[in-house]
Amino acid sequence: MTLWGGRFSQKLDDLAWALNSSLPVDQRMAIQDVDGSIAWADAIHKSGILSDEEHASIALGLDTVKGEFASGEFIFAPADEDIHTAVERRLGELIGPAAGKLHTGRSRNDQVATDFRMWMLQTIPQLNSAILNLQTTLVEQAELAGATIMPGYTHLQRAQPILLSHWWLSHFHPLGRDRARLTDLIPRLSVLPLGSGALAGTPIPVDRAALAKSLGFAEPSQNSLDSVSDRDFAAEYLFCATMIGIHLSKLAEQIVLYTSAEFGFFELSDAFSTGSSLMPQKKNPDVFELTRGKSGTLIGMLTGLLATLKGLPSTYDKDLQEDKQPVFAATDTLLAILPVIAGALRTITARPERMRGAIDSTMMATDLADYLVVKGVPFREAHSLAGKAVREAGERNVSLEKMPLEAYQALGPFEADVYQVFDPLESINKRNTVGGTSLQSVKNQIQKIKGE
Ligand code: ARG
Repeated sequence: MTLWGGRFSQKLDDLAWALNSSLPVDQRMAIQDVDGSIAWADAIHKSGILSDEEHASIALGLDTVKGEFASGEFIFAPADEDIHTAVERRLGELIGPAAGKLHTGRSRNDQVATDFRMWMLQTIPQLNSAILNLQTTLVEQAELAGATIMPGYTHLQRAQPILLSHWWLSHFHPLGRDRARLTDLIPRLSVLPLGSGALAGTPIPVDRAALAKSLGFAEPSQNSLDSVSDRDFAAEYLFCATMIGIHLSKLAEQIVLYTSAEFGFFELSDAFSTGSSLMPQKKNPDVFELTRGKSGTLIGMLTGLLATLKGLPSTYDKDLQEDKQPVFAATDTLLAILPVIAGALRTITARPERMRGAIDSTMMATDLADYLVVKGVPFREAHSLAGKAVREAGERNVSLEKMPLEAYQALGPFEADVYQVFDPLESINKRNTVGGTSLQSVKNQIQKIKGE
């Protein structure tokens, strides 16, 4: 039976019923729904709506319902329109007519917003710990990398030599921001809608501040109209999820490139690569490609919800029922990807000789200009002279480090010590300020990360 049959003389069309039903999605909030109901029963008992007996019976019944959900024994009925209906229907079966008093002063509008926020508050730590696990892997790899050097790129063109450890950690920090962003959401999430009624507030004089506390919220919402329709938190959560997806996608793209034969900087372990049904030699980075692909789906979830929210009339509109599916799906996607990426990166093998082999002396052209700067040449001029040296070496078809001293001296105030600038580790270690790629700098970076 629906919770709203009274004014209708005809039952809802079967297909319309199926469209309206949200149980397949919102049953995921079963425990939150029961917990919210237990707290509501306490609140309306204190307000005198429930007798001690009724309250005890409802509390006991809800406890049984919760146990049934926890053990997987709960059986949904075909007429359960949503999780709220299912809980109330089962409570009625267990305790009889007193169950009908639970919904006094409450609406599914404030109820669903409460359940959803509770679910999210409980899920954020789970997501954060999956991110942290991946971050730990990145730090482990950075430490393992020692003094391994690799080419750094801009525009995907060889730019300057960097430490592999610095590169690993460049993927650590975005994930740190992701965790911080999710944590930042908590104070806005921690505002209780329950007690807002359908839209205008509840006529039952409940202590909403106490109710908020009992459900783990920081405070009750201040405007009932806003609080039954506010889904900012869901949009923010999806933005956080999408940003995580984008960070993982960028990392994944680099792994796809760097494991190709052309780069050959890394080799994936067999446990995290897949084969081709046709080409026997293939070893494919599917898990990284899927990660890259799923980030596109995450973007769709975020923009989908934003589009749903745009232009909704005040206050609750059934459109809002579309809020949960993308949030749950985004969560499942990330919880599926994160441990796999962590596993794949924990077992990946770096190939330092391939990385070193991809560094040529033109990547030290900036150091060549800096060399002239030290000798007193203004940087603009030094930049131009170093550029001329690159061109000259190109014309002579030699590398910068093989070009004879006379050729340098024909261009500017170069001396015999010029060849020292072509040592990539020297170049790396010159970048020794906070955030630079020098060995010392990266060591400090790791220390700071571990101290946090
Ligand atoms: N299933 C609904 C949702 O997710 C619950 C609220 C329904 N409210 C209503 N007035 N029909 O939004």
